[in-house]
Amino acid sequence: MGQKKWKTYYPSGNKRVVVTKELPGNRWLDILTRADCQVDVCTSTDILSLDDIKNAIGDRCDGAIGQLTEDWGDVLFKALKLAGGKAYSNCAVGFNNVDLDAASNRGIPVGNTPGVLTETTAEMAVALTFAAARRVVEADTFMREGRYKGWLPTLFLGELLRHKTVGVVGAGRIGSVYAKMMVEGFKMNLIYYDLYQNKALEDYVVAYGDFLNAMGEDPIWCKRAGNIEELLRDADVVSIHTILDESTYHLINKERLQLMKENAILVNTSRGPVIDESALVDHCQAHPQFMAALDVFEDEPEMKPGLKDLHNVVIVPHIASATRWTREGMATLAASNVAGILMGYPAWQRSDITPFLGKEPPRAAPSILNAKEVGVTLYHE
Ligand code: DGY
Repeated sequence: MGQKKWKTYYPSGNKRVVVTKELPGNRWLDILTRADCQVDVCTSTDILSLDDIKNAIGDRCDGAIGQLTEDWGDVLFKALKLAGGKAYSNCAVGFNNVDLDAASNRGIPVGNTPGVLTETTAEMAVALTFAAARRVVEADTFMREGRYKGWLPTLFLGELLRHKTVGVVGAGRIGSVYAKMMVEGFKMNLIYYDLYQNKALEDYVVAYGDFLNAMGEDPIWCKRAGNIEELLRDADVVSIHTILDESTYHLINKERLQLMKENAILVNTSRGPVIDESALVDHCQAHPQFMAALDVFEDEPEMKPGLKDLHNVVIVPHIASATRWTREGMATLAASNVAGILMGYPAWQRSDITPFLGKEPPRAAPSILNAKEVGVTLYHE
């Protein structure tokens, strides 16, 4: 299987599944071996090339679990199909690295891992928001460099968020949970931008505002922005939670950055290319009070020139979903997607996937994105 190191589990399995990175926990492996699969896992941390993956697929491969760093397009789906492949799962909720049409044309069901990243990713977006607002990383570096000579009234002044306005771009699962955390935790007003109205989120914020009123506290408000510009003008914090597609590529560009408040905070835990990163570098250079906090990058793992030299930017390596529970959950769902399809199970229809984490998981594949297109039966209780 080429130059990279691979480890084989359960070599007597009748089926064969390729897993392009080591995954946390054991449950995912149990799921695949119980489904009678030999499992070949790449133990190298290098990002695999198309050739590496094609070599690993070889001439016999029933299923594969891949990563968001790999380009799962027609080249790989063709190789998988020729090797007898029947299932692929991304070990991620996002699937902008997957050409769904190519997979569907080859008749290969594609899975992803929703529902286990929501709170974890939202919590990281909160952590990044506060790291930026209170300049935690800059202050930490200052201490380590031995530059602290005593308390000063002007040292590392940041932004108080209480009763300011949080702007959420993309009020889906993660965006809504982040919004609630910021509203409830810090009594912020909410403005959100989404193609669809999120009535449940609006009702929640209104009910929380009523509760605050009843407690004699200042009220808060919630509004759906008519356009992204309105949100950028009004919000003190902007957190991005959209998917990446043609409509969201460079959604935050030079012109839109200029609409934001001088001392606004921009957080991105979605996908790097949603922000024009070079424009962000220029903006942060020109506006030292503006803060950004990024988990994702336009040319990941590279950063645009100048980004890492900016003190007003917090940067972490795409770890928003990195809690043990979430990553083990993602691995469990990815394995359940592939094993489920190989066992001939139907595709689960509910958005609640927690039954798959329990002791008696349903006999279904938890999240198949193209079930209808490739004719996988839908699960009916
Ligand atoms: C995903 O699953 O799409 C995340 O970006 C991984 O953290």
